[in-house]
Amino acid sequence: MHSQKEAPMRPDVFVWGLKKNISRFCVFFSLSILLFFSATVFAEVTPENGQKLWKQYCTSCHAINNKLIGPPLKDVDTRRSEAWLLSWIRNNHALRASGDKQAIDIWLEYNKNEMPAFLNFTDDDIKSILSFVKVQSEAPANQPATGAPGADGVTSTQPSLLLYAVVGILVVITFLLMRTNTVLKRLAYEKLGHPLPEERPFINRLKSRRAIILYSIAAVFLLGFTITDSAMRLGRSKNYTPEQPIHFSHELHAGINQINCLYCHSGAEKSKVAGIPPVSTCMNCHRGVLEGESEAGTQDIQKIFAAYDNNKAIQWTKVHNLPDHVYFNHSQHVTVGKIACQTCHGPVETMEQIYQFSSLSMGWCINCHRQTDVQFADNDYYTMYTKLHKDFKEGKIDRVTEEMMGGTECQKCHY
Ligand code: HEC
Ligand code: HEC
Ligand code: HEC
Ligand code: HEC
Ligand code: HEC
Ligand code: HEC
Repeated sequence: MHSQKEAPMRPDVFVWGLKKNISRFCVFFSLSILLFFSATVFAEVTPENGQKLWKQYCTSCHAINNKLIGPPLKDVDTRRSEAWLLSWIRNNHALRASGDKQAIDIWLEYNKNEMPAFLNFTDDDIKSILSFVKVQSEAPANQPATGAPGADGVTSTQPSLLLYAVVGILVVITFLLMRTNTVLKRLAYEKLGHPLPEERPFINRLKSRRAIILYSIAAVFLLGFTITDSAMRLGRSKNYTPEQPIHFSHELHAGINQINCLYCHSGAEKSKVAGIPPVSTCMNCHRGVLEGESEAGTQDIQKIFAAYDNNKAIQWTKVHNLPDHVYFNHSQHVTVGKIACQTCHGPVETMEQIYQFSSLSMGWCINCHRQTDVQFADNDYYTMYTKLHKDFKEGKIDRVTEEMMGGTECQKCHY
């Protein structure tokens, strides 16, 4: 140890230096990949990002396939150039003022109806909207725009695939670096004329402290990403507001006109499904109510007559979609559990257009089963739970939750 200064560099010190460089490189490399990765996930041009903006800013005037206040946007990317669309959407007024013929023509065609400007949209925002419109344009035309369960025409697997690809590449690189490290080490020892130290078997290295630290870091990132990713998916179905063929307002019917939910969803009391009312239920009133509050409302009422006359069902798009492996029964909750519709569906009577209020996740079901006291005392349904009744009467327990009756057992909710 004491004569180190004069002695030629010891191979392990040399290798240690190399190793330090290699680990620095590894850290730097992983960080840059992560940075790149998060940047692409969060600021990318994706149909998902576009869908949010589309819903928030465009659906009041545009649909993909139908003319609303503005033109249908199906295949707009083939009709117009991207540069034109960027300028139009950001500031259509300025584009017209510049004398652009296309811009003036469409404005005249739509009776000089002015579309608002979206000055604070970035190019990526607009490109995202356009990519969403493109995906929707390619969906079959008779499917209502934001279509079937979970499939908004948007592939939600994209981020995960990317993630796995990146992880795969990282693993390969780590492995290569480890190999390089061994080779360099051997070269260094040979060059300095030292005997080769005993090789540690590969399996031991996989169990070394450093390897374990590496695994942990990888696990934390993976977990973090998966949580964000699934939270994003969750966010997508919560607040889900698909476009409907007729603009039916719960606020107007269940709120202002005070029509009871069960008048239209009578199944909720008696059966598994609440059900959507048939056209004939609408006709009970609309034979007499011919006019809406607005021109558009009256046109929508016309659509009821058209469906009725042609003996066709109105193709409502389902808002709530539990996966097939889950069993959920309305009457069990509404009639037996005496839970108000609003506990699960939110303030429906104030919703101009209905949307998914709760997450419908497994955690949501189970939390309520743990927390809600069931109306146990005088409810015939529960007479079979004799032990619970005994305990309840004797004061051993002061509340009964669905959990105590087995409401968190897997097979209660899963087929
Ligand atoms: C208040 C109603 C309104 C809103 C909101 C609105 N638009 Fe428009 N949009 C129109 C009208 C009306 C036209 C037809 C041209 C005109 O009259 O100015 C139009 C035209 C367009 C066109 C040209 C279509 C074609 O065939 O060339 C595009 C593209 C467009 N809008 C995209 C959007 C996007 C994207 C959004 C959301 C960010 C949006 N609009 C929001 C009313 C609206
Ligand atoms: C006049 C008839 C009528 C009344 C009254 C009514 N609804 Fe509806 N409801 C409908 C129709 C039609 C739909 C399908 C169209 C839509 O989703 O907007 C619907 C859809 C729904 C949905 C979404 C279904 C899905 O697709 O997943 C829920 C939840 C709902 N109603 C709850 C309620 C509640 C709660 C009340 C009482 C506060 C109520 N409704 C009152 C007619 C009615
Ligand atoms: C119990 C009576 C009743 C039933 C059942 C009923 N409606 Fe209505 N509906 C009304 C009333 C009242 C109005 C409000 C008219 C007004 O305020 O101008 C209305 C208005 C409307 C409007 C126009 C909204 C607007 O913005 O002006 C539409 C669209 C509509 N109803 C669709 C339906 C559909 C679809 C069904 C069947 C699922 C249905 N209604 C069932 C009573 C009913
Ligand atoms: C304990 C929570 C809960 C309560 C209470 C509840 N719902 Fe639901 N509702 C759901 C869930 C979960 C779904 C999705 C079911 C599916 O996809 O299979 C749903 C779906 C619906 C649908 C879509 C059609 C169907 O039956 O799948 C309608 C309409 C509806 N509910 C109306 C009502 C009305 C009206 C009430 C009150 C009388 C009510 N719900 C009470 C949780 C609830
Ligand atoms: C707002 C509270 C609440 C939510 C949310 C809720 N439940 Fe329940 N659930 C109850 C109550 C209270 C009961 C007890 C009523 C009874 O015994 O039938 C119950 C009973 C049940 C039962 C019958 C269990 C048995 O003992 O036979 C099933 C199955 C069930 N729920 C499934 C679900 C599923 C699936 C979801 C989510 C999609 C869900 N519940 C969401 C409150 C809730
Ligand atoms: C109270 C009802 C309820 C109970 C009890 C319940 N689940 Fe679930 N489970 C659900 C619902 C609802 C979903 C669908 C969640 C979604 O789509 O986000 C689900 C989804 C799942 C999934 C699929 C997850 C996915 O990503 O699609 C698995 C696996 C699962 N449950 C396993 C279990 C196991 C194991 C148990 C018992 C320990 C259990 N569940 C108990 C309601 C329940």
